[in-house]
Amino acid sequence: MSVELSKKGQVLSATGLSAGYDGRAIVTGISVEATPGKVVSIVGPNGSGKSTLLKSMVGVVRVLEGSVAVAGQSITNMAPEQVAKLGVGYVPQIDDVFPPLSVKENLEIGGYLLKRNEVHERIEAVLEFFPKLKVMMTRKAGKLSGGERKMLAMGRVLMLSPSVLVLDEPTANLAPIVATQLLEEYIRGFADFGSTVLLVEQRAKAALRISDWTYVLGGGRVVLEGAPQELSQNPIFVESFLGGGAGARAPRP
Ligand SMILES: Nc1ncnc2c1ncn2[C@@H]1O[C@H](COP(=O)(O)OP(=O)(O)OP(=O)(O)O)[C@@H](O)[C@H]1O
Ligand SMILES: [Mg+2]
Repeated sequence: MSVELSKKGQVLSATGLSAGYDGRAIVTGISVEATPGKVVSIVGPNGSGKSTLLKSMVGVVRVLEGSVAVAGQSITNMAPEQVAKLGVGYVPQIDDVFPPLSVKENLEIGGYLLKRNEVHERIEAVLEFFPKLKVMMTRKAGKLSGGERKMLAMGRVLMLSPSVLVLDEPTANLAPIVATQLLEEYIRGFADFGSTVLLVEQRAKAALRISDWTYVLGGGRVVLEGAPQELSQNPIFVESFLGGGAGARAPRP
């Protein structure tokens, strides 16, 4: 990475976490840890609570029990902008950009915690990393292709030089070749640089390829966890997640 877009990582952890909506838990008793220099992934079927877990870790959904910490400091139920200030950059699964606003405006919004004179400099850094966006600065985000939009969503979060990246299905709806590039070059690259990456990914095979550790969610709980080499030899995991042939996407419940 020629420009330092992200920072060296910090540990992000959840301990005994339960969270959900309207006081009703969707995920329960979850303990996960993401560490600097590693890609830690979460896989699981649709509706298993992956997004809810990430949201609760970044302050978007209410934690009902347990705790979340960054670098040992509790961020449990902290407001999302406070979590961002502590270096945690979160790219949601949906609503990841502001469609009616231009690419430039989206990046400017990403830099909302920066001083005015820092914003331009950071935009330049993001554009050096995602040069494709350079020629689209005035285009509305809603008019971007799937891959371009995901780059913008990540670029928006990179405006604040996060030390921890929390990414919810960054490859959803992308062509396989674009998905592979995003995962293997960009996302693995952040970890290799020393940042912390916590990734939800439905393409189990692709997730395992770039992960150091993987948690499997089922029915709102961690049902399995391990290093990719172990999981790819676990008959239950192979049956549920790798057996589906080329796509190897998690099965629908
Ligand atoms: N805002 C909400 N209010 C109430 N229930 C919700 C809300 N958002 C999600 N849920 C429910 O919580 C459960 C888990 O959803 P979640 O989005 O966390 O799953 P997921 O594993 O991310 O699924 P997917 O793979 O489809 O993205 C689902 O049953 C869903 O319907
Ligand atoms: Mg989800």
